[in-house]
Amino acid sequence: MPEMPDYKADDTRYDGRMPYIRCGHSGVRLPAVSLGFWHNFGSVDDFDKAHATACCAFDNGVTCFDLANNYGPEYGTAEENLGRMMDLSFRPYRDELFITTKAGYDMWPGPYGDWGSRKYLMSSLDQSLKRMRLDYVDLFYSHRYDPDTPLEETMQALVDIVRQGKALYIGLSNYPVDTLDFCFGYLRERDVPCLIYQGRYNMMDRRMENGILSTCRDHGVGFTAFSPLAQGLLTDRYLRGIPEDSRMARNHFLKREVLTPQLLSRLNRLNGIAAARNQSLSEMALSWLLKDGLVTSVLIGASSPAQLLTNIRAVRNTEFTADELYEIDSIIL
Ligand SMILES: NC(=O)c1ccc[n+]([C@@H]2O[C@H](COP(=O)([O-])OP(=O)(O)OC[C@H]3O[C@@H](n4cnc5c(N)ncnc54)[C@H](OP(=O)(O)O)[C@@H]3O)[C@@H](O)[C@H]2O)c1
Repeated sequence: MPEMPDYKADDTRYDGRMPYIRCGHSGVRLPAVSLGFWHNFGSVDDFDKAHATACCAFDNGVTCFDLANNYGPEYGTAEENLGRMMDLSFRPYRDELFITTKAGYDMWPGPYGDWGSRKYLMSSLDQSLKRMRLDYVDLFYSHRYDPDTPLEETMQALVDIVRQGKALYIGLSNYPVDTLDFCFGYLRERDVPCLIYQGRYNMMDRRMENGILSTCRDHGVGFTAFSPLAQGLLTDRYLRGIPEDSRMARNHFLKREVLTPQLLSRLNRLNGIAAARNQSLSEMALSWLLKDGLVTSVLIGASSPAQLLTNIRAVRNTEFTADELYEIDSIIL
C-alpha cells in the first residue's frame, strides 16, 4: 500500500453517517466509534496498513484516535507512528482530530516511569508530545489508579497539565468505583472537570455496570468502552479456527486457551442473533454498547480498513427488542 503523502480526506466524512455524541456535561462531542492504537500501530506492524486504517477511519468520520505512552510494541512506537501520520496526512486536519494519550503503566525503568506520581505523568506527557509531533493532546488520561500515591497528587498533576496547555481535557481509566466521587469532585472544584472515564466494557464483560457507568452519568462524565469486541472474540474472527494473522495467534494479550468449545458455541449463537438482525457479530456487539446512551464512544481496535468499515456500520442499528436482549443475556450470563 502507498504511504499516501497526498492524502486528502473524503469530503463526505461529516455527512451524518457517524453520530457525534456529547461527552457528559461538556462541550465536546465524540464519534460513536473511536479508533484505538494499542495493537496494529506499533513498530512490529505494517505501517502502510496502519496508516490506511487511520485514514479510512478519518474518512468515515472517526475523529478520535486513542493512544498511550506504552502502545506498540515496542513501547512508544504507536505514538511515533501517529507522529509520522500527522506529517504525512493529518497535519492539515489537526483541529478536526481529538487525540488522546495516557500514562500509568510501566514505561521506562526506575522509580519514575510507572504509576501515578506527578513526576511520571508530567515527563511522560512531554515525551508523548515529542513522539506524536504535537504541541498538545486533546485529552490526557491517568491510565490506572495508583494505590500508593495520594490521589491529590495525581489529580493535581492532571489539573496542572491542563493549565500548562499540554492537554485540553483530562480523563481517568481503570479507576475503582470508590475513588470516583473524590476524583471527580477534586477536578471539578479546580475547574478541570473529568471529561471521560475509559473502562473495559463489552457484552461479555459487564463489570462497568456495577456502579461505574451510573457514577459517570451522575457526575456528568462521559464513558468510553475499550475492548468492546473482547479483543476480537465478539467478531467472526475465531468462528472457523484461529487465523494466523490474528491477535489470538500471537497468544500474548489474547490467549488461545480462552477459546473453549463452550465459548465458541456461545459466539456462534450470538452470531445467529446478529445475522437475524442483518448485522455481523462485531456490528451487533458495538450496537449493543451504544443502545442506551450510557456509552459516549466505543473504542475499537482494527487491523485493517475492512474491519473498520464493518464496525462503523454498527451505528446504523442500535435498537434492540426486549427478546433480543433477553436472548443475548441468556447466552452470555
Ligand atoms: N485504558 C486501557 O487500559 C485500555 C486497555 C485496552 C485497550 N484500550 C484501548 O481500547 C482500544 C481497543 O482495544 P482492543 O484492540 O482490545 O479492541 P477490540 O475492538 O475489542 O478488539 C480489536 C481486535 O478485534 C479484531 N477485529 C476488530 N474488528 C473486527 C472485524 N470486523 N472482524 C474481525 N475481527 C475484528 C481485530 O483483531 P486482529 O488483530 O486479530 O485482526 C482487532 O485488532 C485500544 O486500541 C486502546 O486504545 C485501553
